[in-house]
Amino acid sequence: MENLLELLRVRRSTRVFKDTQISPELVESLMKAALMSPSSKRSNPWEFILVDDADQLEALSKSKKHGSLLLAGASLAVVVLADPAKSDVWVEDASIASLILQLEAEDLNLGSCWIQIRLRQTADGEDSEQYVRRQLGIPDALRVESIVAIGVKEEAKKPFEEEKLQWEKVHLGQYPNIN
Ligand SMILES: Cc1cc2nc3c(=O)[nH]c(=O)nc-3n(C[C@H](O)[C@H](O)[C@H](O)COP(=O)(O)O)c2cc1C
Repeated sequence: MENLLELLRVRRSTRVFKDTQISPELVESLMKAALMSPSSKRSNPWEFILVDDADQLEALSKSKKHGSLLLAGASLAVVVLADPAKSDVWVEDASIASLILQLEAEDLNLGSCWIQIRLRQTADGEDSEQYVRRQLGIPDALRVESIVAIGVKEEAKKPFEEEKLQWEKVHLGQYPNIN
């Protein structure tokens, strides 16, 4: 897609995917994009684990009490990790990488959804990061920010409507006087 604003207009979270594998070429493009994500002081504190095995996806779908089940039907999960020892703003760096993955997915005409892991719990009350670490053998020193679910879109979602953008959130020069 040539126009970023148009890409942003049509990107919506996809939670239902076709039962289709993503080609190695597309996976490579996704990871190229992620590895070009900006990071504070170019510290690149992130690492990524690619998961496409059905049993592993099923296990990851139980990472949270709510909002992670869709991973069971995804073709690919990209687990976004970061090393806090490499950056004090690893949350921002890992979040940017997660979003870049989503935007590249959209550009490749794939659907995606961000699954929040940090600060979340499983249905059993286990810390979601710890659960994901356990499933994938991730060292304790690494934090788990998100899992980006990716696949071929099964559902069609309405693009953003320009008339409904929240322009009231945009202020000119200073914050409006609310008294
Ligand atoms: C930080 C963050 C965390 C999110 N966590 C989840 C999640 O755990 N599960 C989920 O289904 N969607 C999750 N989402 C997707 C949001 O629900 C979605 O972006 C929002 O509802 C707006 O819909 P849209 O992406 O279609 O515009 C998350 C999005 C962000 C940015």
